[in-house]
Amino acid sequence: MAPVSKEIVIRQEAPTDVDAVRNVHQLAFGRPDESELVESIRQSDSYIPELSFVALIDDQIVGHVLFSIVHIDTEPEQKRVLALAPLAVRPDYQRVGVGARLTHHGLAEAKARGWDAVIVLGQPSYYPRFGFQPSHEFGIESPFPLNDPSAFMVLELEEDALENCSGMVVYPDFFMTLT
Ligand SMILES: CC(C)(COP(=O)(O)OP(=O)(O)OC[C@H]1O[C@@H](n2cnc3c(N)ncnc32)[C@H](O)[C@@H]1OP(=O)(O)O)[C@@H](O)C(=O)NCCC(=O)NCCS
Repeated sequence: MAPVSKEIVIRQEAPTDVDAVRNVHQLAFGRPDESELVESIRQSDSYIPELSFVALIDDQIVGHVLFSIVHIDTEPEQKRVLALAPLAVRPDYQRVGVGARLTHHGLAEAKARGWDAVIVLGQPSYYPRFGFQPSHEFGIESPFPLNDPSAFMVLELEEDALENCSGMVVYPDFFMTLT
């Protein structure tokens, strides 16, 4: 494990980071699916280059997080929100705060750019520390089958952003094959 004292630098992803980002996801998830998801997002209308961030320790990319556009299928019109996916930290640098720094930084940047809500499908033991709450408390439904309903979570970046926003979240098709 990396020493806790190492400085963690967070910055926007650059075009030259693509290979290192792919490697982070491959190592963290142990499969190519999430790095392929990143590639699909990059080629889609959902991609926001300014909301893709890398974490560096000793000038090496050790983590990555991406926020992209999804919709809540609510009335009277769909609401555009962000999906936090994927987030990964290289196994040899996990549990020293890299994931937390990436997430806090990304959420602050998203808010600064006017986004008011974020959706995540992930560990219910990890994301509540950033303020995420189970989506069912807002009447917001997952399009993915879930073993644990609290794994689908939302975060309001602005107060009451998700008030009267019940409905299912609509993801681009390439998300739907991910298990
Ligand atoms: C989940 C992940 C991004 C967390 O990043 P990280 O840099 O290790 O996390 P941090 O150092 O910020 O936070 C450490 C905390 O996260 C918890 N944590 C780490 N990985 C976790 C996981 N897979 N599930 C639940 N909690 C996890 C640790 O227990 C620790 O909790 P504590 O502070 O209460 O002791 C990273 O472990 C990872 O890439 N895992 C593999 C890929 C993955 O599962 N991505 C997320 C999909 S939801």
